Amino acid sequence: MKAAAIMPKKIGSLHFVEVPVPRISPEEVLVRIIRVGLDGTDKEIGMGYYGTAPKGCDYLIVGHESFGRVEKMGDGTSGCGLKVGDYVVATVRRPDKCINCAAGESDMCLTGNYTERGIKGAHGYMTEYYKEVPANLVKIPSSIAEPAVMLEPMSIAEKAVTQPFEIQSRMVWAPKTAVVLGTGTVGLFAAMLLRLRGLDVVSVDRTESNPIKEDIFKSMGIRHINSSKVAIGDIPKSIGKNVDIVVELTGSPAVVYDAMNLSGPNGLVSLVSVTGGSYVANVDMAKLNYNLVLGNRVVVGVVNSNIKYFRKGVADMVSIEKAHPGLLKGMITRRVPFEEFDNYGILEDREQIKVVIEFEKILKKG
Ligand code: BGC
Ligand code: ZN
Repeated sequence: MKAAAIMPKKIGSLHFVEVPVPRISPEEVLVRIIRVGLDGTDKEIGMGYYGTAPKGCDYLIVGHESFGRVEKMGDGTSGCGLKVGDYVVATVRRPDKCINCAAGESDMCLTGNYTERGIKGAHGYMTEYYKEVPANLVKIPSSIAEPAVMLEPMSIAEKAVTQPFEIQSRMVWAPKTAVVLGTGTVGLFAAMLLRLRGLDVVSVDRTESNPIKEDIFKSMGIRHINSSKVAIGDIPKSIGKNVDIVVELTGSPAVVYDAMNLSGPNGLVSLVSVTGGSYVANVDMAKLNYNLVLGNRVVVGVVNSNIKYFRKGVADMVSIEKAHPGLLKGMITRRVPFEEFDNYGILEDREQIKVVIEFEKILKKG
């Protein structure tokens, strides 16, 4: 079968490799890929900034946002809740032996020795078939079969939105207003999830919004601010309120200092963009420290997601789909046939929300 791979740390090295269809052990499941999403991490991998091959291999099969269908079940998998024909999404990170990983929280790995399928030390899903143990698979109801290729980014938004509430259980906390910086896939999902929790949500990017984003904002009652018109630091003044939760998802290190200063008293800032490289800025640390200390403010970094957040993501996708049919699917703005996926150029187009690689047309389940 065919798979798409890169040579780690080599720009422009995306190519097809011919690999055998995986042979499953009795404990494993064989999954046929239907589509795979691309994101900023894939872009970084394509540029050679990020990504490592599995031990003993010189290439890395890419792709970590998967959607597929169970093709074959190992003899020892009975009772796992899956059957041939089910739609599934696989999680990304695989544990090492640290205490967090051992507790099922590989997203909180203590050592950095985890692997991530399609990213770090383990092959990904940009291939016709992959194998997995059922414990790393999430069953997808057919009502969200179309948008479920975005469950992995949704799971990141779930973690970015859930953890603030867990952290703030340190006091009486009734957040009312949230600002989400960035309107990529995870940014839009984070705004939606905060709305579902009843907050007043302001979504911020540098543009007058596009029609698909407008539709999301209107359907869900999210406000939009163009940061080329209102400076980030002026947002609380412009909306006339303190901000309780800030989620930073722009991927731009230039925004981080302003984001950290944006929350009101007892507020929390969740930083979610993985920014490689270096960005040196001359900033007022006294002001930042003063604000953080006097306001009991929290700044927290959030990465990856464990299966618990994928499951939450399924439930929230189902309820969004029910309330606003087709809204989620509309975020898939570009579909590229797998055979044509030989470069990451498409990720340069800032007009796109989610770009996916298509492996086959969905056959409607009977
Ligand atoms: C993925 C995460 C991963 C992170 C860092 C993100 O694009 O969604 O699952 O942990 O990159 O590798
Ligand atoms: Zn670990």
